[in-house]
Amino acid sequence: MGRYVPDEIEAYAERYTSARWDVFERLGAETTETQRNHGMMVGVLEGAFLSFLVFMTRARRVLEVGTFTGWSSIAMARSLPPDGSLVTCDVNEETTAVARRYAEEAGVASRIDFRVGPGIDTLASLEGPFDLAFIDADKEGYVDYYEAILPKLAPDGLIAADNTLFGCDADDGEITRAITRFNEHVLQDDRVEAVLLPLREGVTLIRRR
Ligand SMILES: C[S@@+](CC[C@H](N)C(=O)[O-])C[C@H]1O[C@@H](n2cnc3c(N)ncnc32)[C@H](O)[C@@H]1O
Repeated sequence: MGRYVPDEIEAYAERYTSARWDVFERLGAETTETQRNHGMMVGVLEGAFLSFLVFMTRARRVLEVGTFTGWSSIAMARSLPPDGSLVTCDVNEETTAVARRYAEEAGVASRIDFRVGPGIDTLASLEGPFDLAFIDADKEGYVDYYEAILPKLAPDGLIAADNTLFGCDADDGEITRAITRFNEHVLQDDRVEAVLLPLREGVTLIRRR
Protein backbone atom coordinates (compact mmCIF):
# COMPACT_ATOMS: atom_id res chain seq x y z
CA MET A 1 0.00 0.00 0.00
CA GLY A 2 1.09 3.58 -0.53
CA ARG A 3 2.75 5.88 1.93
CA TYR A 4 0.46 8.70 2.93
CA VAL A 5 2.67 10.91 5.08
CA PRO A 6 5.79 12.10 3.23
CA ASP A 7 8.97 10.48 4.63
CA GLU A 8 10.48 13.80 5.70
CA ILE A 9 7.36 14.74 7.70
CA GLU A 10 7.27 11.34 9.38
CA ALA A 11 10.99 11.60 10.21
CA TYR A 12 10.50 15.11 11.63
CA ALA A 13 7.54 13.97 13.76
CA GLU A 14 9.56 10.99 15.02
CA ARG A 15 12.47 13.25 15.87
CA TYR A 16 10.26 15.35 18.15
CA THR A 17 8.51 12.38 19.74
CA SER A 18 10.23 11.74 23.04
CA ALA A 19 7.83 8.95 24.07
CA ARG A 20 10.15 6.16 22.94
CA TRP A 21 11.66 3.17 24.68
CA ASP A 22 14.86 1.20 24.08
CA VAL A 23 12.99 -2.09 23.93
CA PHE A 24 11.31 -1.01 20.69
CA GLU A 25 14.66 -0.44 19.01
CA ARG A 26 15.57 -4.09 19.67
CA LEU A 27 12.09 -5.37 18.81
CA GLY A 28 12.07 -3.29 15.60
CA ALA A 29 15.55 -4.46 14.57
CA GLU A 30 14.78 -8.15 15.16
CA THR A 31 11.45 -7.92 13.36
CA THR A 32 13.01 -6.13 10.38
CA GLU A 33 15.71 -8.79 10.20
CA THR A 34 13.46 -11.83 10.55
CA GLN A 35 10.00 -10.96 9.21
CA ARG A 36 9.21 -10.38 5.55
CA ASN A 37 6.21 -8.20 6.48
CA HIS A 38 8.08 -6.09 9.00
CA GLY A 39 6.30 -2.94 7.75
CA MET A 40 3.25 -4.16 9.70
CA MET A 41 4.72 -2.89 13.00
CA VAL A 42 3.01 0.26 14.24
CA GLY A 43 6.41 1.95 14.69
CA VAL A 44 7.57 4.90 16.79
CA LEU A 45 4.80 7.45 16.12
CA GLU A 46 1.75 5.23 16.22
CA GLY A 47 3.17 3.20 19.10
CA ALA A 48 3.59 6.40 21.11
CA PHE A 49 0.10 7.52 20.07
CA LEU A 50 -1.46 4.24 21.28
CA SER A 51 0.44 4.50 24.52
CA PHE A 52 -0.90 8.04 25.02
CA LEU A 53 -4.39 6.85 24.12
CA VAL A 54 -4.38 4.32 26.97
CA PHE A 55 -3.05 6.99 29.30
CA MET A 56 -5.56 9.67 28.21
CA THR A 57 -8.60 7.40 28.35
CA ARG A 58 -7.43 5.86 31.64
CA ALA A 59 -8.22 2.50 30.09
CA ARG A 60 -7.90 -0.49 32.40
CA ARG A 61 -9.08 -3.26 30.08
CA VAL A 62 -7.69 -3.22 26.56
CA LEU A 63 -8.29 -5.55 23.64
CA GLU A 64 -6.23 -5.99 20.49
CA VAL A 65 -6.74 -7.98 17.30
CA GLY A 66 -3.39 -8.43 15.53
CA THR A 67 -0.40 -8.89 17.85
CA PHE A 68 2.38 -9.54 15.30
CA THR A 69 5.71 -9.09 17.17
CA GLY A 70 4.15 -6.99 19.90
CA TRP A 71 5.02 -3.34 19.34
CA SER A 72 1.43 -2.08 19.77
CA SER A 73 0.60 -4.46 22.65
CA ILE A 74 3.68 -3.48 24.60
CA ALA A 75 3.20 0.23 23.88
CA MET A 76 -0.38 0.09 25.21
CA ALA A 77 0.46 -2.18 28.16
CA ARG A 78 3.14 0.26 29.34
CA SER A 79 0.48 2.89 30.04
CA LEU A 80 -1.90 0.59 31.89
CA PRO A 81 -2.29 1.00 35.64
CA PRO A 82 -0.76 -1.86 37.71
CA ASP A 83 -4.12 -3.68 37.85
CA GLY A 84 -4.83 -3.11 34.14
CA SER A 85 -4.83 -5.84 31.52
CA LEU A 86 -4.64 -6.29 27.78
CA VAL A 87 -5.83 -9.26 25.74
CA THR A 88 -4.24 -9.59 22.32
CA CYS A 89 -4.71 -12.24 19.66
CA ASP A 90 -3.08 -13.41 16.46
CA VAL A 91 -3.13 -16.49 14.28
CA ASN A 92 0.67 -16.62 14.13
CA GLU A 93 2.29 -18.58 16.95
CA GLU A 94 5.85 -17.74 15.93
CA THR A 95 5.45 -13.94 15.95
CA THR A 96 3.40 -14.17 19.15
CA ALA A 97 6.41 -15.88 20.78
CA VAL A 98 8.57 -12.89 19.78
CA ALA A 99 5.97 -10.54 21.28
CA ARG A 100 5.94 -12.50 24.53
CA ARG A 101 9.73 -12.34 24.78
CA TYR A 102 9.80 -8.54 24.33
CA ALA A 103 6.87 -8.09 26.73
CA GLU A 104 9.01 -9.91 29.34
CA GLU A 105 11.95 -7.68 28.56
CA ALA A 106 9.74 -4.56 28.83
CA GLY A 107 8.37 -5.74 32.20
CA VAL A 108 4.73 -5.79 31.03
CA ALA A 109 4.22 -9.52 30.36
CA SER A 110 2.07 -9.98 33.47
CA ARG A 111 -0.45 -7.46 32.08
CA ILE A 112 -0.76 -9.10 28.65
CA ASP A 113 -2.86 -12.16 27.87
CA PHE A 114 -1.57 -13.50 24.53
CA ARG A 115 -4.07 -15.65 22.64
CA VAL A 116 -3.29 -17.59 19.50
CA GLY A 117 -6.16 -18.26 17.12
CA PRO A 118 -8.54 -16.53 14.72
CA GLY A 119 -9.50 -13.11 16.04
CA ILE A 120 -13.22 -13.70 15.62
CA ASP A 121 -13.11 -16.83 17.83
CA THR A 122 -11.06 -15.08 20.49
CA LEU A 123 -13.49 -12.15 20.54
CA ALA A 124 -16.44 -14.53 20.92
CA SER A 125 -14.77 -16.10 23.96
CA LEU A 126 -14.20 -12.81 25.80
CA GLU A 127 -16.44 -10.96 28.19
CA GLY A 128 -16.58 -7.18 28.21
CA PRO A 129 -16.52 -4.43 29.05
CA PHE A 130 -13.34 -3.20 27.38
CA ASP A 131 -12.27 0.44 27.61
CA LEU A 132 -10.19 0.41 24.46
CA ALA A 133 -9.94 -1.94 21.49
CA PHE A 134 -7.31 -1.75 18.76
CA ILE A 135 -8.13 -3.50 15.47
CA ASP A 136 -5.01 -4.23 13.40
CA ALA A 137 -5.40 -7.67 11.79
CA ASP A 138 -6.59 -8.97 8.39
CA LYS A 139 -8.46 -6.14 6.68
CA GLU A 140 -11.23 -8.42 5.36
CA GLY A 141 -12.19 -9.13 8.97
CA TYR A 142 -12.50 -5.51 10.15
CA VAL A 143 -16.31 -5.24 9.89
CA ASP A 144 -16.77 -8.52 11.79
CA TYR A 145 -14.23 -7.52 14.47
CA TYR A 146 -15.96 -4.16 14.87
CA GLU A 147 -19.40 -5.77 15.20
CA ALA A 148 -18.06 -8.31 17.71
CA ILE A 149 -16.32 -5.64 19.79
CA LEU A 150 -18.99 -2.92 19.89
CA PRO A 151 -21.36 -4.80 22.28
CA LYS A 152 -18.37 -5.49 24.57
CA LEU A 153 -17.23 -1.88 24.66
CA ALA A 154 -17.61 0.07 27.91
CA PRO A 155 -20.10 2.98 27.62
CA ASP A 156 -17.23 5.48 27.31
CA GLY A 157 -15.02 3.03 25.45
CA LEU A 158 -13.10 3.66 22.29
CA ILE A 159 -12.24 1.55 19.24
CA ALA A 160 -9.12 2.42 17.25
CA ALA A 161 -8.87 0.85 13.80
CA ASP A 162 -5.56 0.89 11.96
CA ASN A 163 -4.71 1.36 8.27
CA THR A 164 -7.98 3.07 7.42
CA LEU A 165 -6.36 5.31 4.78
CA PHE A 166 -5.85 2.18 2.66
CA GLY A 167 -9.34 2.89 1.36
CA CYS A 168 -8.11 5.94 -0.54
CA ASP A 169 -5.59 3.99 -2.63
CA ALA A 170 -6.15 4.26 -6.36
CA ASP A 171 -5.98 0.50 -6.95
CA ASP A 172 -9.06 -1.66 -6.54
CA GLY A 173 -7.30 -4.48 -4.70
CA GLU A 174 -8.78 -6.72 -2.01
CA ILE A 175 -7.33 -4.71 0.87
CA THR A 176 -8.47 -1.35 -0.52
CA ARG A 177 -11.97 -2.74 -0.98
CA ALA A 178 -12.03 -4.28 2.51
CA ILE A 179 -11.03 -1.02 4.16
CA THR A 180 -13.50 0.97 2.04
CA ARG A 181 -16.23 -1.44 3.16
CA PHE A 182 -15.19 -0.93 6.79
CA ASN A 183 -15.00 2.88 6.51
CA GLU A 184 -18.45 3.02 4.88
CA HIS A 185 -19.88 0.62 7.48
CA VAL A 186 -18.72 2.86 10.34
CA LEU A 187 -19.86 6.03 8.53
CA GLN A 188 -23.40 4.64 8.13
CA ASP A 189 -23.59 3.35 11.72
CA ASP A 190 -25.85 5.65 13.79
CA ARG A 191 -24.64 4.07 17.04
CA VAL A 192 -21.21 5.66 16.79
CA GLU A 193 -19.21 8.65 15.71
CA ALA A 194 -15.74 8.46 14.28
CA VAL A 195 -12.69 10.52 13.36
CA LEU A 196 -10.15 9.30 10.82
CA LEU A 197 -6.72 10.63 11.73
CA PRO A 198 -4.12 10.73 8.95
CA LEU A 199 -1.48 9.30 11.29
CA ARG A 200 0.82 6.97 9.38
CA GLU A 201 -1.54 4.72 7.38
CA GLY A 202 -4.64 6.18 9.06
CA VAL A 203 -6.15 5.48 12.46
CA THR A 204 -9.92 5.78 12.95
CA LEU A 205 -11.15 6.45 16.48
CA ILE A 206 -14.72 5.34 17.09
CA ARG A 207 -16.94 5.97 20.09
CA ARG A 208 -20.57 5.38 20.90
CA ARG A 209 -22.87 8.37 20.50
C1 LIG B 1 -0.60 -5.44 10.83
S1 LIG B 1 -0.13 -6.86 11.73
C2 LIG B 1 -0.31 -6.35 13.40
C3 LIG B 1 0.80 -5.39 13.80
C4 LIG B 1 0.92 -5.16 15.28
N1 LIG B 1 -0.23 -4.49 15.81
C5 LIG B 1 2.19 -4.41 15.61
O1 LIG B 1 2.14 -3.30 16.15
O2 LIG B 1 3.27 -4.93 15.32
C6 LIG B 1 -1.51 -7.91 11.44
C7 LIG B 1 -1.50 -9.22 12.20
O3 LIG B 1 -2.79 -9.81 12.07
C8 LIG B 1 -2.63 -11.19 12.12
N2 LIG B 1 -3.83 -11.85 11.58
C9 LIG B 1 -4.15 -12.13 10.29
N3 LIG B 1 -5.32 -12.75 10.22
C10 LIG B 1 -5.78 -12.87 11.49
C11 LIG B 1 -6.95 -13.42 12.07
N4 LIG B 1 -7.90 -14.00 11.32
N5 LIG B 1 -7.08 -13.37 13.40
C12 LIG B 1 -6.13 -12.80 14.19
N6 LIG B 1 -5.00 -12.25 13.69
C13 LIG B 1 -4.83 -12.30 12.37
C14 LIG B 1 -1.36 -11.46 11.30
O4 LIG B 1 -0.82 -12.72 11.64
C15 LIG B 1 -0.49 -10.26 11.69
O5 LIG B 1 0.42 -10.60 12.70
